Amino acid sequence: MTSAPAPLGLGLVGCGGFGAYVLDAVAGLPGLRPTAVADPDPVRAKALGERYGVPALGSLEELLEREDVAAVAIATPPAAHAAMATAALRAGRHVFCEKPLATTTEGARAVAREAERAGRALVVDHVLRYNPLLRALQGLIGEGLLASPRRFLFENDASDQDLGPGHWFWDPAHSGGIFVEHGVHFFDAARALLGSDPLSVRATEVRRPGGPVDMVSADVLHPGGVLASHLHSFTHAHRCERQLMRLDHGFAETRIDGWIPVRAEISAWTDENGAEAWEKLPARAEALLHVDGFRPHGGERVSVTVERDAGARAPARGRGETRVVPHHVRAVLDLGGEARKPHVYTESVRAAVADLVRVARDGGTPVADAVAGLTAVAVAEAATLAAVTGTEQLVPGLDGTPGTSAPPHLQESS
Ligand SMILES: NC(=O)c1ccc[n+]([C@@H]2O[C@H](COP(=O)([O-])OP(=O)(O)OC[C@H]3O[C@@H](n4cnc5c(N)ncnc54)[C@H](O)[C@@H]3O)[C@@H](O)[C@H]2O)c1
Repeated sequence: MTSAPAPLGLGLVGCGGFGAYVLDAVAGLPGLRPTAVADPDPVRAKALGERYGVPALGSLEELLEREDVAAVAIATPPAAHAAMATAALRAGRHVFCEKPLATTTEGARAVAREAERAGRALVVDHVLRYNPLLRALQGLIGEGLLASPRRFLFENDASDQDLGPGHWFWDPAHSGGIFVEHGVHFFDAARALLGSDPLSVRATEVRRPGGPVDMVSADVLHPGGVLASHLHSFTHAHRCERQLMRLDHGFAETRIDGWIPVRAEISAWTDENGAEAWEKLPARAEALLHVDGFRPHGGERVSVTVERDAGARAPARGRGETRVVPHHVRAVLDLGGEARKPHVYTESVRAAVADLVRVARDGGTPVADAVAGLTAVAVAEAATLAAVTGTEQLVPGLDGTPGTSAPPHLQESS
């Protein structure tokens, strides 16, 4: 009889709001056991240590001295992430790093190299990668029921209600700025949904009168003439937060509500084969919405209505593609709406940590890996530079060479 491997001992560095959230989210996760927490603020460290019955330490260095810390979760403000992740990997630990992986592309690249060299697991907490709706959409695109998007839009009326003037969020030296601190989630989600690495970016930043930059927008070009537009405006009360993610698939459109996506609505024109495939979707709901480590609450729903011959049978044409698509489909993928956001958020974090446990135990590549973290930071840094300089910027490749896959108008003539 083989006994189960010992649970992975997890040490958390950064006992603020989100560090506590991560520990709460992974409570009871099979194969994992919190073993210590650390924060230079002794009050915060003590409170969290007591909650989990583990020692409260003052620094990452103290965590790394402990043999029962096999993995480190990093939840400090962003500017410390790269150095901490690199140090933990170098000390032979697996790493769960809060987003962003780093505040600079150079820092993110150093972490990615160290993860490779050390042969340790590294997961970046890009929670959208572990969201059942985004996973389902990736599946539907992969199987061809939805065409690959030619356009991605994310409009984010975000809340600044808890972000007082002295908060580190507003200081690029600590946060990296809005594109880096928050934008990385969506640069990465776009990369996953579009299935390609970004090429170049144009961007704008807007400063509130007499205050910090609180609104940024970026147009990111992907291969094949695919455009991803991102807007983040940290200017709202909690109750006025609204987000829309929109994918244009040509003959179909997807609209997703919530920055933690909780409901997706698809509108599609299709032929008879497509209509029949869509009608089978509700029966596939469980598999479609499955994410390892994410526990459904039971209220998830997939519903589909097909209106046959809603349009003419004459050929329809867009971007040079001609199809006969008389039937109209409306599909709703629902995780329970806004009321389920806390559940979906917590479970997405749990699934991300479960991914770390799996890779630490079995090897392989996590979903939100170092390449995802590095690419998101690279496009965020390029967007920041584009906004400041007012010029289009290439997104550097993984190896640091800019322009290896530059769009034609930015390629150097020989
Ligand atoms: N994935 C997500 O959805 C999500 C959501 C919110 C926050 N975050 C990320 O989590 C991280 C923390 O955010 P927060 O809101 O908890 O911030 P916070 O300010 O509430 O907490 C940060 C904590 O880190 C501690 N700290 C600072 N420097 C440290 C050091 N050198 N060593 C050890 N501890 C140190 C601080 O004392 C503080 O307790 C940020 O990177 C943020 O972007 C991620």
